[in-house]
Amino acid sequence: EGFLPFEHEPYFNFRDEATVQAQRAAFQQVREQYVGRTFPLIVNGQPAQGSGTFEVRNPADTREVVWQFQNATPEQLQQAVQAAQRAFEDWRFSDPFQRASIFKRAAELLRARRLELNAVMTLENGKNWPEADGEVAESVDHFEVFAREALRWAQGKPVYPMPDEHVTTVYEPLGVVACISPWNFPSAIPLGMALGAIAAGNTVIWKPARETPLSSYLMVELLFEAGLPRGVIQFLTGTDDVLGDPLVDHPGVRMIAFTGSKEIGCRIYERAAKVQPGQRWLKRVMAEMGGKDPTVVCADGDLDAAAQGIVQAAFGYAGQKCSACSRVIVEESVHDALLEKVTALARQLKVGLPEDNADLGPVIHTGSAQRIMGFVERGQQSARLVLGGEVPDMGERQGGYVAPTIFADVPPSDPLFQEEIFGPVLAFTKARDWQHAIELANDSEYGLTAAFYSRDPRKIEEARRRIHVGNLYINRKCTGALSGTHAFGGYGMSGTNAKVGGPDYLFWFLQTKTIAQRY
Ligand code: SER
Repeated sequence: EGFLPFEHEPYFNFRDEATVQAQRAAFQQVREQYVGRTFPLIVNGQPAQGSGTFEVRNPADTREVVWQFQNATPEQLQQAVQAAQRAFEDWRFSDPFQRASIFKRAAELLRARRLELNAVMTLENGKNWPEADGEVAESVDHFEVFAREALRWAQGKPVYPMPDEHVTTVYEPLGVVACISPWNFPSAIPLGMALGAIAAGNTVIWKPARETPLSSYLMVELLFEAGLPRGVIQFLTGTDDVLGDPLVDHPGVRMIAFTGSKEIGCRIYERAAKVQPGQRWLKRVMAEMGGKDPTVVCADGDLDAAAQGIVQAAFGYAGQKCSACSRVIVEESVHDALLEKVTALARQLKVGLPEDNADLGPVIHTGSAQRIMGFVERGQQSARLVLGGEVPDMGERQGGYVAPTIFADVPPSDPLFQEEIFGPVLAFTKARDWQHAIELANDSEYGLTAAFYSRDPRKIEEARRRIHVGNLYINRKCTGALSGTHAFGGYGMSGTNAKVGGPDYLFWFLQTKTIAQRY
């Protein structure tokens, strides 16, 4: 069947001195090899220049320009869609074994270059070493998982028989899929969406975030090196006036796979509903958006484990994950003890350079830091500031650094409780009892991840039933979904619940044909 044994890619151990040296050497190599270079678009299999370039800056110190990418023109968008349509006419009939073996080969190529990709990501989006490593390892997992999924879906599904007809149900690809991805997971998120599309036999317009194009570009090159026909991915960077609405509105695009903010996701969902002149289908939209993810801690829960999980999930990558824990909802009787433990751990986190593997690096833009500090300032009128709330002194460096920040006594109606802040800001709220805690957890328009800490099977059973999220984690942190295992995607305004890396993900990129034959 081609179902090979599977293991998640193990992480590097950065407590091991030889590994530390190797990661440092990779930074040096990346600085020599890539810094200062200008990278092309890829249209119709060829590298192409746009109408000028833009600079990608190191968020840890925005005085440093790391590399440059192209601004695609409206004509290049047209060419890319046409080239993707042409390539689809071959790729749609490609052998799933061929697709799977390309992905397997890409996994091998990426395994050999993980430290390099870690370093590129750190310089683009400010992840520290284990955060970058976690994402690059997830990218290897995606290759391995989608290789298997391509084969699994190629088998079709059985139908209830009837006597005089031979009936089969088969799955066929859709066409050109526009993949629009964010900066916070610049390799694993676009890769997950694109591999889903390609594994199913579609072709892709790959539009990475402007902040982080190289982590994406290297994945595309890797796929070509592994044998993917070059027309299957069109790689376009540039400005939203050319690649935002015009890409979504394009009548040649069959589906839009988007991960990013709620605001843009809703905009895409609405625009894609309009049938454009010449368009011969209803566009499909996958939109994975934000979260306001709670951790519920019951009085009988393991408070030390909970504190650790909360701190990792709230402050890892400075809270810039849709899966990040941003609300702690805790039973009154253990509230003070838990708050103390979480605060003590958070206080130890060092803010500094991600390239030196500091616990907490910058947020993506200085403007984002200002926006986050706006929440912090307003929050002090309605809640009690327990930790942080200031901008640490980083000397000469220019970047959006925000100290790990904790608020307590946050009312459920407060923006700190309801709005996605996308920064290192954590809100504590007291619950009367554990049932009330579950109610408060569900008091959100979002429903992406949640964590629940208890040792009581009855409470756990109730949490499993009632917590309204796509990813519920019991007695563990709410970040770090693994491809193939923790199908990822939310409820409510967190999006379309596409569940990347899950058993039904490929179905999003397929349409179903029933063939009934008589003899
Ligand atoms: N998949 C990531 C996580 O689970 C978020 O995008 O943390």
